[in-house]
Amino acid sequence: MSHADDHGGTRRDFLYYATAGAGAVTAGAAIWPLVHQMNPSADVQALSSIDVDVSGVEPGTQITVKWLGKPVFIRRRTEEEIAAARDVSLSDLPDPEAQNANLAGADASDENRALDETGEWLVMMGVCTHLGCVPLGDAGDFGGWFCPCHGSHYDTSGRIRKGPAPTNLPVPTAAFTDETTIKLG
Ligand code: FES
Repeated sequence: MSHADDHGGTRRDFLYYATAGAGAVTAGAAIWPLVHQMNPSADVQALSSIDVDVSGVEPGTQITVKWLGKPVFIRRRTEEEIAAARDVSLSDLPDPEAQNANLAGADASDENRALDETGEWLVMMGVCTHLGCVPLGDAGDFGGWFCPCHGSHYDTSGRIRKGPAPTNLPVPTAAFTDETTIKLG
């Protein structure tokens, strides 16, 4: 049984590879459980911004895209996930900072981490802030992400809630450029 099978039998994460030249994103097929499996080529690392087509992402699922050599999670959240994230007191958060490159200095309320006002879209780096493993989606004690390396639990807003990770999963520079395209960087 693979590592991914151990922890995420119902995962619907898909990996997309950005291609240099066109700057496009095309479908890949690999599940990506651990950061040590990443081996980005120099041309992909060099892309400072990419456009991601999110038209095929259903509520309650996410895609993983590779950007600057690292995985980025793009999740389309359900009403329940949004409500769970917004029903958390800031005083319950180990890291009080939004860690959002688009909102410097903001607090870690879910509104300050989601990409859009409704909170449906959440974009964040898929790299555990402890020692860099790639957390698993739809997992953990808070219904968000779980890093199996040393047991860090992130909530449905990607905020650290339990375990050794010191900070929330960072939100990169990101914006919708049209209804179905998210630009990273
Ligand atoms: S790398 Fe994620 S918990 Fe240690």
